[in-house]
Amino acid sequence: MSRSPGYIVARRSGPLEGEVTVPGAKNSVLKLMAATLLTNGRYEISNVPGIDDVATMGELLAALGVTSYLDPARPGVLVMENSGSITPEAPYELVERIRASIVVLGPLLARCGVARVSMPGGDDFGKRPIDMHLKGLEALGATFELRRGYIEARTEGLHGADITLDFPSVGATENILMAAVVAKGATVIDNAAREPEVADLCNFLNSMGASIEGVGSPTLYVHGVPQGDLSAANHAVVADRVQAATYLAAVAVCQGEVVVRGARAEHMEMYLRRLREMGVQATPQQDGILVYADSRRLRSLDVQTLPYPGFATDYKPLMVTLLTVADGVGIVTENLYPGRFRYVEELQRLGADIRTDGHHAVVRGVTALEGAPVRAPDIRAGAALVVAGLAAVGETLISDVHHVDRGYDDLVGRLASLGADIERIR
Ligand code: EPU
Repeated sequence: MSRSPGYIVARRSGPLEGEVTVPGAKNSVLKLMAATLLTNGRYEISNVPGIDDVATMGELLAALGVTSYLDPARPGVLVMENSGSITPEAPYELVERIRASIVVLGPLLARCGVARVSMPGGDDFGKRPIDMHLKGLEALGATFELRRGYIEARTEGLHGADITLDFPSVGATENILMAAVVAKGATVIDNAAREPEVADLCNFLNSMGASIEGVGSPTLYVHGVPQGDLSAANHAVVADRVQAATYLAAVAVCQGEVVVRGARAEHMEMYLRRLREMGVQATPQQDGILVYADSRRLRSLDVQTLPYPGFATDYKPLMVTLLTVADGVGIVTENLYPGRFRYVEELQRLGADIRTDGHHAVVRGVTALEGAPVRAPDIRAGAALVVAGLAAVGETLISDVHHVDRGYDDLVGRLASLGADIERIR
């Protein structure tokens, strides 16, 4: 996107009041977009968040041969067209901008029998290997060579296999799924990721004509269908639980009463449980979550990140932020990405008392944070710094907010609509 990201300025705010609607999940829509490589036709994906990663994925798919546009008449509707002419080569310039693009590997192999995809780089929060993606696809009959930074993949024909993942990796599960749906025979993926976004992809693939059973469970059974049996489909993206969690966290530090419309309580049970233990009321409603926080100080607790349905690593920067102003000491343990504590230094600039040791952070609550200039190191940490800024006395100037734009649909506008003292300056 060409617009200049500028800065976010946040000041101490609260109480927040009103209603905010949560858009679709980044970590689902990007995979749904990749799935359109599998077969020709016109797809309509609705509830699409207005985020930069969707635009970047759109550019990558355009390079591969699938065009897309956001329908100006219907907000949040992405129309995608696969006319059948696919170039199975994902170039470095696009892959390095968005790690999720590795999920084009499975569908490209399934569709074209060959694929050349640039190796994705690491993130600001550490090494992120793809060995499980490759091992799983190999079991389905693909071979790989790594040449000059590219994965060169080919297959003489994919076949079903029994695959047990060493760890329930989201991306590996999705890549294997998108190849297995058209492999000859049956595939069983054991220890599969169970995230709601993975289930969303399964549901989309099934509506395209795939046959996946066990959706949402750790064992996925895929009965391969002939490629020609798949057809384009329409789908509404599942609500973004991390964006929802961000508005809940904002109310927790600013106090107030807000309805987070569209949020799916059943997808964020562990997060809601922890918030309640801290003294925040979070009540599931028919179409969202009602969150209420009064003037009492939050209570500290310990938390560790785990694959779904455990406490998601993507919530962790928000939780660390809540603990910085809570009463007592909380220990946060990161079990997915050991390096994902980069934002701690930024929170310390606001006066937070945090010590890290390996994959643990010990957070001692202070009575007030103080505004300061900080830098957003990644998407989720950027959002957490915004929440911290709303709790801090004075002004917090957040730079590098292009990270926030990758995954948040108008975070500033939505928070401002709830009464937060926040603005975007260019
Ligand atoms: N891993 C391996 N080998 C692999 C794959 C993963 O060792 O082949 C390791 C990773 O290094 C990590 C762990 O397994 O330590 C989990 O990785 P996973 O594959 O589950 O994560 P991902 O698919 O790369 C997605 C989300 C992340 C989210 C994680 C965990 C997308 C685009 N990204 O990443 O979201 O943190 O699952 O839930 O879906 C974000 O949205 O900001 C974000 C980072």
